[in-house]
Amino acid sequence: MSKTKVICFGNNKGGSGKSTTCANVAYSLSTLGKKVLLIDGDMQLNLSLSFFSEEEVLEMAKKDRNLYYAIKNQADLSDYIVYTSYKNIDLIPSSTLMSGIEFELFTKWQREFILKRCLEKLKESEQYDYILIDSPPTLGGWVMNILVASDYILVPVEASPWGLFGLANLFEFLQEVKQLSTNLKLLGVAITKVDTRKNYYKQTVETLKELENVHVFHSHIRLDSAIEWSQDNSKPVAVYRKNSRSAIEYMELAKEILEGCQ
Ligand SMILES: Nc1ncnc2c1ncn2[C@@H]1O[C@H](COP(=O)(O)OP(=O)(O)OP(=O)(O)O)[C@@H](O)[C@H]1O
Ligand SMILES: [Mg+2]
Repeated sequence: MSKTKVICFGNNKGGSGKSTTCANVAYSLSTLGKKVLLIDGDMQLNLSLSFFSEEEVLEMAKKDRNLYYAIKNQADLSDYIVYTSYKNIDLIPSSTLMSGIEFELFTKWQREFILKRCLEKLKESEQYDYILIDSPPTLGGWVMNILVASDYILVPVEASPWGLFGLANLFEFLQEVKQLSTNLKLLGVAITKVDTRKNYYKQTVETLKELENVHVFHSHIRLDSAIEWSQDNSKPVAVYRKNSRSAIEYMELAKEILEGCQ
């Protein structure tokens, strides 16, 4: 078995903090000495924008070296890697063409396994400790591909009533995925965008803790304006504001992830 661990950041609820968590966990892991490859699986390009400016991302999206073409051509993903300004973080950028990915998959043989096959060589080479994949807020053939290619799913959940609504659909979907990929494990639920002034947050935590076989990470990510400023500057929050509370919380979460993946 490869030592490279593949983790999907997934939740069909939009805006739950998937891209933010994926980018900032990647940075924390990199400072802990781990080599990380990020895969931007969403046409919104948010993970790519976490490390590159808008102009750079749009330029990359125009070229044929992005995830859409890799999947369309069923190519080895090693040829689609771009380097970020951080030594231990590389990226496979997305493209707005990813909006048509379901159509591309539809006509292909064993269509649930395409991303897994495209990742095979990279995983076997063990050049990365972690491959983190950011998913779009959907449950369909493409997210099925992401999950089949992953060893773990981490579910960022927003501490709000609608943040919890829909988790049942996700868990049902995971059962379907497990019929194709018995390796997939639920790493845990990370509570994000916590507003500690609101009591509702405590109820969210209690509700999640009552779920059977679901690990809830101890580190909760609170609302922090430094996150938005860091994204506006295409930087991880710990680079933008080193001692901001979300930088510290994301470091704690990364350490929990390291423990959970052993
Ligand atoms: N801890 C935080 N504090 C403040 N704002 C946050 C925090 N986490 C995320 N956000 C903001 O919330 C919004 C949604 O976050 P993000 O894009 O990471 O969610 P997502 O699940 O990836 O969304 P989508 O489903 O659209 O892909 C973004 O505008 C982001 O800036
Ligand atoms: Mg996102």
